[in-house]
Formats: sequence, structure tokens, C-alpha cells
Amino acid sequence: MQLPADHRQFETKVTPDRRDLNQPADRALGRVVSCTGSRATIAATASGAPGTHDGCAIGRLISISLGTSRVVGLVYEMRALQPVWDEAYPNAIAIEVELLGEVVDGENGAARFNSGIVTYPPIGALAHRIRSRDLALIHDLGERSAVSLGTLTQDAAVPASVDIERLLSRHFAVLGTTGVGKSSAVALMLRKAVAARPNLRVLILDPHNEYAHAFQDTCVRIDASTLDLPFWLFRFEEFADIVFRGRSPLEDEAEILREVVAVARSRYRVVSAHDMARDLGSSVLKRPLDPGARRPGEVSGTAELAAPYRIADLFTALDELIGLHELRYPRTTLRALKVRLETLYSDPRYGFLFAHANSMETIAPVVSQIFRVPHRGRPITVFQLAGLPSEVVNAVASSLARLAFDLAMASRGSYEILLLCEEAHRYVPQDQSLGFAPTRQAIARIAKEGRKYGAYLGIVTQRPGELDPTILSQCSTVFAMRLGNERDQQIIRAAIADASASTIAFLSSIGNREAIAFGEAVATTMRMRFSEQRPDELPAMAGRVAAQVEQREPLVEELVARMRGL
Ligand SMILES: Nc1ncnc2c1ncn2[C@@H]1O[C@H](COP(=O)(O)OP(=O)(O)OP(=O)(O)O)[C@@H](O)[C@H]1O
Ligand SMILES: [Mg+2]
Repeated sequence: MQLPADHRQFETKVTPDRRDLNQPADRALGRVVSCTGSRATIAATASGAPGTHDGCAIGRLISISLGTSRVVGLVYEMRALQPVWDEAYPNAIAIEVELLGEVVDGENGAARFNSGIVTYPPIGALAHRIRSRDLALIHDLGERSAVSLGTLTQDAAVPASVDIERLLSRHFAVLGTTGVGKSSAVALMLRKAVAARPNLRVLILDPHNEYAHAFQDTCVRIDASTLDLPFWLFRFEEFADIVFRGRSPLEDEAEILREVVAVARSRYRVVSAHDMARDLGSSVLKRPLDPGARRPGEVSGTAELAAPYRIADLFTALDELIGLHELRYPRTTLRALKVRLETLYSDPRYGFLFAHANSMETIAPVVSQIFRVPHRGRPITVFQLAGLPSEVVNAVASSLARLAFDLAMASRGSYEILLLCEEAHRYVPQDQSLGFAPTRQAIARIAKEGRKYGAYLGIVTQRPGELDPTILSQCSTVFAMRLGNERDQQIIRAAIADASASTIAFLSSIGNREAIAFGEAVATTMRMRFSEQRPDELPAMAGRVAAQVEQREPLVEELVARMRGL
């Protein structure tokens, strides 16, 4: 390699940088010819022969020697100085780098990396391909316990370490266009997370029913046929959203529903207490038989969760309203609501709301099933939303996010719960008029306060631009995978304070399985490649071709039955 002509004046000052025997003999690239506060230009030469500039390509880190310290720069542009190419001689090129920090050699030989620059490189300083050891140092988490999710793109010998504790407790997001490997990366992260933290429970809201395939031995799959989510567990707004199928209720409708639910709730409590007292042969019930149940007169709030009621009481209360001499609501509205509730009740797709609702006295069975208390070796719950009627998805997501928060809070630190939202832009869209307010509130609550109680959020989306920016800004670690859209890139730029402009510029062109990891769980912004996983460890989308295509074509009756959720 030829260096620019004026290099001799530095020869005596620059320490030879060849301590690692495995490294190529000549790591020199060129010399600094200009330096601004955050950037430098390196003059070098290129012959165009294959492999000659291995260490220097867009997106790579290089180091600039300053004796006892080495300034680390990220290459973001390379160009030939002449617009012609000379085959016979090396051609002069300019390498533009963004300065990220410096590696300082300590007294006892231990080096350390500081982000930010104290000593800027002088003009003429020698730039090198970076040493593996420096690269490892830059991404080393030090005292923090690290888990490897893959390797650095630049050097496959250096592990891509993340701090799982920070990753979870400060929330994280995985962003990238479709097919870049988001779900596969999430599967890898979750596998590492549950292995590292035994009291972690993971609830995946899985809109494409793909994750169960990735966690065959460690997950419980909940789908429309195995789900029991009693109707009385929903908050009023959630229940109304189910009843009115996502449309906003007409005047009076919501009011009537609110009234009959309240009546049914009060009747349930009175009747059950009375029955119990009679059965026990005592007129006074000294303590509530079910510690979770609310006694008459108690304030509502989260306690409402634990107060069941009977669907029969709901219908009776509605009939009573219809039968009143002096009608308080228009009879047609009352009748329409009754028909609506009856249709819901008899629709097999909504069986999960009603089938076992009144054989449960508290939410304990639901919590135990969905949040794995105890986990019995399966700490992950894959909640398959694809089989549920689309009208209930919002209400279900809302109630689950709410339960996750309440449970984490009630456990006083014994359980940590990670709620992983795939396609999060559906639940928390940027446009406040879209989406379902209670879901947004429940997720925002975890994002804002969850870390105090051990409720964490993982967000996965292919459209960061359509995601509520306040939720994204609560995610302190971001794995940005390929993002072609300029608007999406800007979102990342805005959301991540320490994202250098040049790093973001790569987002449109990085490969599949690659990510740029920013934020609290990594030591320095890191361009990485997630480890390759076996086909049986990938979400089902990957395995679908071989495993899920049916051998024969289904009959039309079978297809229809499936579409009806039977
Ligand atoms: N870590 C990995 N190991 C092995 N294969 C992978 C890995 N990551 C991704 N792939 C391959 O890339 C394909 C797409 O991955 P994946 O389904 O995770 O993408 P995605 O970003 O979640 O896509 P979508 O936006 O459609 O959900 C997979 O089918 C898989 O074959
Ligand atoms: Mg996916």
C-alpha cells in the first residue's frame, strides 16, 4: 500500500500498530488530511485489486493513531479524487469518517473506550484498519452482564453483546421492513431472555400465529379454542367495543349497556353471598369467601376485575328495562341491544367469552393460564390473535396489557412480565383518531411506568412512521433493521438521541438479519448480525413452506368452518 507523499515526517512519532499476530501485516490505510469537530477526511490510495481495502468500506470502523490513544471513526463515504481510473498506478481516494470516540491505553496495558473525543487527530495522523481487540473493547459492556445475540458485521469474531437486564427493563423496539428478520431476531432475544432471567414471563401478542413454532418446548399456545377470557373481566369500554364491534355506540346504547352491566354485577354479589350464607347455615358471613371478590359498597377500579356477573342477569336487567311502563330509553334501541347481545352470546367464535365465564369466581385461572403462574417450564405465552374475530382483538389486547401491568405490580417484583407487541402500529398508531383508546392507554402505562414494577414492553413494527412516537421514545434500546423509507429513517433519527447521522444513512441498505443497535442495552451503537438460527427455532413464517402447506386441498366446507373459527 502506498501512502501519501508527506508521510515520512510522522514516521518516528507513530508507534507500529501490529501487536496482534493474527492481523494482516499492514493495517495502514492513509493519513488524515482534514478534520472538523466530528468528522475527518483520510487521504489514501486504491489500486482496485480485490481485497486490498478490506478494512475500509462504508459502515466500517477505522482507527487513527495518536500514540497512546486511537481515535475511532466510522466510514460513511469514499471517493476517488480524480474522476478517472488509472490501472497502472494506485489512485488517490478520500475516505470520510465520522469520529465516534477514542480508545485510550491505560498504565497497566488495559485499554478503555470513551465515546467523545478529547484529543483530535492532527493533520497527517496515520489511519489504520481497526484492531479486533479495539473493536471488542468498543462494544464491551464491562461490568454489566452481557448476552450475545450475534456478531458484529465488521468482524465476525467479535460477539454482539447486549445487556438483557437493560434491554427488558428500559423497553425495546425492533424495526424494519417486511422480511428482514424481525420476528426471527425477537425469537432469539426472547430465548436468551428467559434463559437469563428465570422469573420472567413473556406474553407475545402474535397476529400471524407464527411464534409457537419457535418455542415448541418453552411456550404455551393460546388460540381461539384454548382461550378463556370471561366477558366479566373486561372493562366497560372494552366490553362495549366487543358488543358494538368496534363502531362507536349510538346515543343511549352505551348508557343502557353500562346500566345493565352494573345491575348484573350487583345481583351477582348479593345472590352469591346470600347463597353461601344459607348453605353454611349462618346468617352472617364473617369474611368474603373469595378474597378477590368485591363486597357491596366497595369502590370500583381494579377491583372491578375480580367481580364477575352472570350473562343471564344481564339479559334479565335488559328485559326489565324493556318491560318498564315508563320507558327510559327508546324501545327500539333496547331491543336492538338485546338482539346484539344475544347474537354475540350464541356466536361460536365468541365462545371464549362465555363458555366457562360463570364457572370462574375470580380471575385466578385466567392469570394462571395466560401469565404462567406457576410457569411449569413454559414461561412464554404465545397469544394467537389470528384466530380471534377481528372485532375483539383490540379489547383483548387492551385487557391483556392491563392485566400484565396489574399482575407485575401485585407481584411486588417476584415476576417480571414482558409484553411483546408484534405489528405494534396496529395497537398504538401514530394517528390518535385510529386505534382503540383503552389499548393505547394500557400499553402507554406499561411504557411509562412499567419499569418500576417489572412490566416491560417489546415493540415490533415494520412501519415505525405509523407508530405512536411517544411509545417509541420510551423504548430505550432500538434494533433498527433495514428501513427503506425516508420518513421511517427520520423517525429513528428523532427517537434516538445518540444515533449518528451517518449510521442512520446505512439503514436503507443493510442486509437481512443485520441491525444497527442503539441505546441503553449496548455499549456503543453497534452494527450487528443476528446469529443464524435453526429452522425449528424460527417463527413459523419461515417454516411454513415445508411444514404447513397442506398435502391435499381442503374441501370448501372445511374452509368455511375454519373461516367461522369452528
Ligand atoms: N436469525 C436468522 N436465522 C436464520 N434465518 C433467518 C434469521 N433471520 C431471518 N431469517 C430468514 O429470513 C426470513 C424472514 O424472517 P422474519 O420472518 O423473521 O422476518 P420479519 O421481518 O419478521 O418479516 P415480517 O415483516 O413479514 O414479519 C425467515 O423466513 C428466515 O428464513
Ligand atoms: Mg415478522
